[in-house]
Amino acid sequence: MSKGVVTCLIIGAGQRGYAYSDFARLHPDKLKIVGIADKNELRRNRVKDEANISQQYTFTDWKDAAKLDRFADCAVISTQDREHKEPAIAFASKGYHILLEKPMAVTEADCKEIVKTCKENNINLTVCHVMRYTPEARKIKELISNGSIGEVVNIQLIEPVGSFHFSHSYVRGNWRREELSSCSLLAKSCHDIDLIVDWMEGTKCKAVSSFGSLKHFRKENKPEGASDRCLSCHLKNSCPYSAVAYLDEVKSFNTGWPVSVLSDNPDIENITEALKTGPYGRCVYSCDNDVVDNQVVNMEFENGSTASFTMVAFTKKTCVREVKIFGTKGEIRCEFDENLVKQADFVSGQTYFHTFKRNGGNYGRLSGHGGADYHTMKAFVDAVAERDESKNLSGPDQTLQSHLLVFAAEKSRLTKTTVYPQLN
Ligand SMILES: NC(=O)c1ccc[n+]([C@@H]2O[C@H](COP(=O)([O-])OP(=O)(O)OC[C@H]3O[C@@H](n4cnc5c(N)ncnc54)[C@H](O)[C@@H]3O)[C@@H](O)[C@H]2O)c1
Repeated sequence: MSKGVVTCLIIGAGQRGYAYSDFARLHPDKLKIVGIADKNELRRNRVKDEANISQQYTFTDWKDAAKLDRFADCAVISTQDREHKEPAIAFASKGYHILLEKPMAVTEADCKEIVKTCKENNINLTVCHVMRYTPEARKIKELISNGSIGEVVNIQLIEPVGSFHFSHSYVRGNWRREELSSCSLLAKSCHDIDLIVDWMEGTKCKAVSSFGSLKHFRKENKPEGASDRCLSCHLKNSCPYSAVAYLDEVKSFNTGWPVSVLSDNPDIENITEALKTGPYGRCVYSCDNDVVDNQVVNMEFENGSTASFTMVAFTKKTCVREVKIFGTKGEIRCEFDENLVKQADFVSGQTYFHTFKRNGGNYGRLSGHGGADYHTMKAFVDAVAERDESKNLSGPDQTLQSHLLVFAAEKSRLTKTTVYPQLN
């Protein structure tokens, strides 16, 4: 670390890695990107040029960076889900502190191995459970920790994925098939199980059950006469999932997510071409998707408390979590887009409105999840710079616990049995 500036290697400069690299542009006094690995030339070069990285530390494959002696303080690992474990083990073994995208890995054994390797090498591991860094989640945690609602007896959490977000990512896109990424619960909702684990800190989940199915996005639900591609479909004006919506985004000058996933240069011509030939122009009823579009998880904790979680694709709002938490002395209610946490107190009969401002900061490309992406990266950089793991809200122990619970819930869904997870 030179003059307190943390040096960083970015591994995978796609949607997420490119955003994380922006922290160095926003805070050159805190972070310097000194290495980049990405298979995609355009993505590799845009980080190389922006951060002025030498050719010596510019790689098409992270494996070549891992052959060298350690040349940075930390590594941001933001490759796809099934490509987390190998680089995490390789770079933690070399002494790099790690910011690791969620899910940590796609099997229980691999998650455990990552945590073990990081601990053995005294590595700060921050898992990108970005929801923990939202002002809502932090206020809720504070109210629970300071006893404002007594002992938590029940949590109800809903993740409304959003109809278009679901069709984009989990029907047409990168997370549509378990064999290519992971099950829906791990890919989408490990954040939510993780929030429940965080809010229930001090007691462990002892039993979990789950149901869920791919109910709607199936070939048999294809409307009669629909085409396999949306641009040529005569139903495009009446279908809520028509890919024509991507063109509308570009016409409205939105060239960020989701259209930036279709092309690194998302203008009308490139997006039209992507819709004619690429995966995102496919009819949602003609895809090769297999991950569930609705799932419920029930959890019982060692102290007798319970929690339930629902993930559903068919919602107007996108990823705006809704939570109700019932305690022995009060309750908490929150929708994650209101900048507000409501706390009712059973003794005084009062309801307290905890409000906060959201858009106070300049988050650059890290404005995702209401700025929580920025706060995740900041916590990681601060933890590394100050060697202070308490800055890290999503460290190895709890995040491993929440991943193990996801695996247990998915096992329950598949086996139709209650599962008793081994979390120790
Ligand atoms: N924390 C969150 O809320 C959140 C949100 C979205 C996605 N994610 C996760 O972030 C991860 C990345 O997602 P994304 O949308 O940025 O993916 P992406 O496909 O846009 O980016 C991945 C990049 O990795 C590169 N890559 C692949 N193999 C490589 C190799 N061997 N060496 C170097 N680079 C290589 C690819 O070229 C690509 O640019 C995924 O695991 C995803 O589930 C997390």
